Amino acid sequence: MTFIPYGRQLIDEEDIKAVGEVLRSDWLTTGPMVGRFEQAVCAFTGARFCVAVSSGTAALHATMSAIGIGPGDEVIVPAITFVATANAVVYTGAKPVFADVDSDTLLIDPVDVARKITPMTRAVIAVDYAGQPCDYDALRAIADGYGIALVADACHALGAKYKGRGAGTLADMTCFSFHPVKHITTGEGGMIATDDEELAKKMRRFRNHGVMTDQREREAQGTWRYDMVELGFNYRLSDMQCALGVSQVKKLPVWLERRKEIASLYDKAFSAPDRVSPLAVKAGVDHAYHLYVVRLAGKDERQKAYDGMRRQGIGVNVHYLPVYLHSYYRQRFGTSDGLCPRAEAAYGHILTLPIHQGMEDEDAQYVASSLRSFMS
Ligand SMILES: Cc1ncc(COP(=O)(O)O)c(C=O)c1O
Repeated sequence: MTFIPYGRQLIDEEDIKAVGEVLRSDWLTTGPMVGRFEQAVCAFTGARFCVAVSSGTAALHATMSAIGIGPGDEVIVPAITFVATANAVVYTGAKPVFADVDSDTLLIDPVDVARKITPMTRAVIAVDYAGQPCDYDALRAIADGYGIALVADACHALGAKYKGRGAGTLADMTCFSFHPVKHITTGEGGMIATDDEELAKKMRRFRNHGVMTDQREREAQGTWRYDMVELGFNYRLSDMQCALGVSQVKKLPVWLERRKEIASLYDKAFSAPDRVSPLAVKAGVDHAYHLYVVRLAGKDERQKAYDGMRRQGIGVNVHYLPVYLHSYYRQRFGTSDGLCPRAEAAYGHILTLPIHQGMEDEDAQYVASSLRSFMS
């Protein structure tokens, strides 16, 4: 029985050759491929600057550092996201404040964001859950109105569009992830896209210990001297990874189309009013379908479907438990049930079905009929 994971990489000979060429070159890290990958993502997203880092988590951390988030500050994040979104706030000593999500899309609700703003609020991190962009017009109005930063966690949304504008251009800074389940991969990896040159400069420094120049720049300048001006991290992405990224990004437009085709097969399979309903897609958005999430009507159906489909070789998953219900958050911030009722209600019913560029139509049909067989 072949297993259909919920997401997985697609690697071809061209990718392997690209990495092999770097292995035979002088620069395994912080060489010419880093800039080439950054340029490729700029060209794809339409952002002016891109900064490659070692993961999506590092990207989020870099954005928090670039805008000077620290102890005493609050940053608003959605209740439903991967823990890394909120963790990036905690790394800085600031407090994540959880906003509830829209019940139909599970995207951060701008009305609840406005409600959660206090004099300590410094930023909002909007998460393009599953690959659907948030309501950026409303979020931009709030951010500008209160003079706070708008950061996009688009780790699910490379290639998504909102009113014709690409993910990477919708917020002050946008984070991407290149983990193998994402649209393209570098093994581990991340990127921040921004139109702000100053912020880009700060994040380049942050990924390299807070040092003003990198090794290659010093070689070119013929000097050993460097100055560390702030505390940074080693969040660099290697040239081997960037070469893989450059090779992968070429295939992204075709892969996004394939993801859409799989999604429309599922849409069709679950179009009748039923015990299975896909999450809503808002008008004016181009969904990047990192995840395909359905809501199951009954209370016990999710566990039954999860167990049964797994037994049939289908890698269904659940994204996500509201972050503040994890033990760490309960203990550190005293959060508990009832904080974001819509997120909590949705969590009991959602199931993520497999979607990735390597899937065949028959795989999607098998997944859909398997799910239906577990609905009472
Ligand atoms: C919404 C979201 N944010 C951040 C991350 C972190 O990305 P990475 O795994 O590359 O650190 C992920 C990864 O799954 C994610 O789904």
